[in-house]
Amino acid sequence: MILPKSINIVEVGPRDGFQSIKKWIPTDLKLQIIDKLIEAGFKKMEVTSFVSPKAIPQMKDAKEIVQKLSEKHQNKEIVFNALVPNLYGAKAAYESGIREITYVISTSVSHNKANVRRTREESFEELAKIKEIFSDLKIKFAVATVFGCPYEGEVKIEEVKWMVQNGINIGVDEFCLADTIGVANPLQIEKVLKELNATFKDIAFSLHLHDTRGMGLANVITALQNGVTTFESAVGGLGGCPFAPGAAGNIATEDLVNMVENMGIKTDINLDKVLSVIPIIKEKIKPVLTSHLAYVDRTCKVGE
Ligand code: COA
Ligand code: ZN
Repeated sequence: MILPKSINIVEVGPRDGFQSIKKWIPTDLKLQIIDKLIEAGFKKMEVTSFVSPKAIPQMKDAKEIVQKLSEKHQNKEIVFNALVPNLYGAKAAYESGIREITYVISTSVSHNKANVRRTREESFEELAKIKEIFSDLKIKFAVATVFGCPYEGEVKIEEVKWMVQNGINIGVDEFCLADTIGVANPLQIEKVLKELNATFKDIAFSLHLHDTRGMGLANVITALQNGVTTFESAVGGLGGCPFAPGAAGNIATEDLVNMVENMGIKTDINLDKVLSVIPIIKEKIKPVLTSHLAYVDRTCKVGE
């Protein structure tokens, strides 16, 4: 196997994870969990999203989350990223102190409509405006539903290329390919990455995988062999888009860290510190998790 020596892991639990929880999570509890995750050593974290509170009430404390984190951690080397679906969200994020956003557009027309109530073209128009207005705002472009759409099924590679090309034309800083509903299989991951790497030679694509059908870590292995060195994951395996029927959690951060570290790939993430969040999540947010490591008897040292 040809594997990288190290990878970057972007923790998205406080955004993708919390957005999928219906019951209100108090802001202080969110901040307590984020603080513990910061201690685990992440260099970048999606901490919230600036979306309509009507669409996702759980994210209505976005401004407070960002302001409190910025105050408390101003000297730390961590990027607080927030997801935004439109210009309004980008403006609110910027005013709160955010300097890096995740801007999401779905490759499939129907999911983009369901998720952000816009055509893809309208979404790109707003992205271009964001780039023009906020010149010092870093943009991670989340290309959603790359591997399948809950409404349309198969997504064509030409459509993905069209999305990426639009992102290039606008001048986004990073590209993240998302398996929004967790349907990708390893062969598909390889085909898509090979095709995109051949077409867009200068782009280092990152991956955002969901584990809905149990193929998440298998997909990571394939992606590692196809040049991917940045992965997004959520503590506990929380996660899921409320506007994608059947979507379930992200790959669990602790399972990802454990697997790659065992393969000799460095992450700089402290696994014990990630796992210290699990009892809090089980008790206060979601009693049953999809994470594997959350249920391993850790007095057994084999495999860690
Ligand atoms: N944050 C907060 N409020 C917002 C907003 C944002 N990013 N964008 C729009 N609004 C407000 C508007 O001010 C308006 O308020 P009003 O009713 O008090 O006048 C209202 O929402 C409707 O505005 P409109 O532009 O018509 O939005 P919409 O109702 O068509 O919804 C989105 C569009 C994008 C705001 C909404 O679909 C959304 O937030 N989607 C996010 C989905 C998501 O987070 N998915 C998971 C992550 S991938
Ligand atoms: Zn997701």
